[in-house]
Amino acid sequence: MVKKDLDWANLDFSYRKTDKRYVANYRNGEWDAGDLTDDDKVTISECAGVLHYSQSCFEGLKAYTTEDGHIVAFRPDMNAERMESSAKRLEMPVFPKEKFVDAVVETVRANAAYVPPYGTGATLYIRPYMFGSGPVIGVAPSKEYQFRILTTPVGPYFKGGVRALNLCVSDFDRAAPRGTGDIKAGLNYAMSLRAIVTAHRNGYDENMFLDAATRTMVEETGGANFIFVTKDNKIVTPKSDSILPSITRRSLLHIAKEYLGFTVEEREVYFSEVSDFTECGLCGTAAVISPVGKIVDHGREICMPNSFNGMGTVIKKLYDTLTGIQMGQIEAPKGWIKIIA
Ligand code: PLP
Ligand code: COI
Repeated sequence: MVKKDLDWANLDFSYRKTDKRYVANYRNGEWDAGDLTDDDKVTISECAGVLHYSQSCFEGLKAYTTEDGHIVAFRPDMNAERMESSAKRLEMPVFPKEKFVDAVVETVRANAAYVPPYGTGATLYIRPYMFGSGPVIGVAPSKEYQFRILTTPVGPYFKGGVRALNLCVSDFDRAAPRGTGDIKAGLNYAMSLRAIVTAHRNGYDENMFLDAATRTMVEETGGANFIFVTKDNKIVTPKSDSILPSITRRSLLHIAKEYLGFTVEEREVYFSEVSDFTECGLCGTAAVISPVGKIVDHGREICMPNSFNGMGTVIKKLYDTLTGIQMGQIEAPKGWIKIIA
């Protein structure tokens, strides 16, 4: 297989069409066999549930080229499980886990020429998604759905690569208590667009969202969970029913405890505590772990002393171990790495 002629080391996080995508349809109460297609266009009813009532959810994961030349995906079973929660919450049919993982493998294999070579810093981003494709006019779940997977080679999520990010505390709320903040529904992201455009216009990289009920606790950003480091080197991450259960964050907590011997606390994090932390990072599939240098709350600047100029020592250890596992340099916990080719 000959790799595509792309400037791998300088890719940004944007969509580039690849050769094949996966499509399965749900009709009459069941999923069809699903298949790969060359056709990147979606044709659905003008009255499709997704177009009117935003019945859609998605996932994000990556394929990597390891040091010894394999193509692997990181924990695709976890994405399948999270998509199951999203689907159930949105009254959509579940796309079975085994079928999900097989479809990821099939789609990545078919686009192997787009999986960035080892050492370039780039990866193949995999985007499974599902939407109500059948017509509905009264507010109700659609009767027909489409599940698809597209892939696109990507570089760093934040422009400029790994650098300390500037965040602002958002005046918007991302998710309501007992709402949909803990699933990967497209509607959560539509809600956050005004906030991210406002943040960018004001010169910030991302928002820190607070809990909607009291606005005293740290939730997450528009596309990543937070991790903080205390003065005595404990790792702290917010626990909330309205944040997305990040697979990266859950993996990092395991790595922190089992590989690196840190004490880990998953608990409510008050915004008033943030100035006591020494390091801050955003973690997610796209963000990996991006260091946060500064958080600005209506003019009050909170500087993170050990991640002000880039990754601090604790976050760097987490980053090196996570990416080492993903790239096959460090032995992974059982079941974390799915070998694709
Ligand atoms: N939080 C939000 C709102 C996200 O969109 C994402 C990205 O998927 C994450 C957190 C990180 O989750 P994961 O590590 O599973 O990619
Ligand atoms: C991911 O990290 O996979 C996401 O879906 C986040 C999104 C902001 C790109």
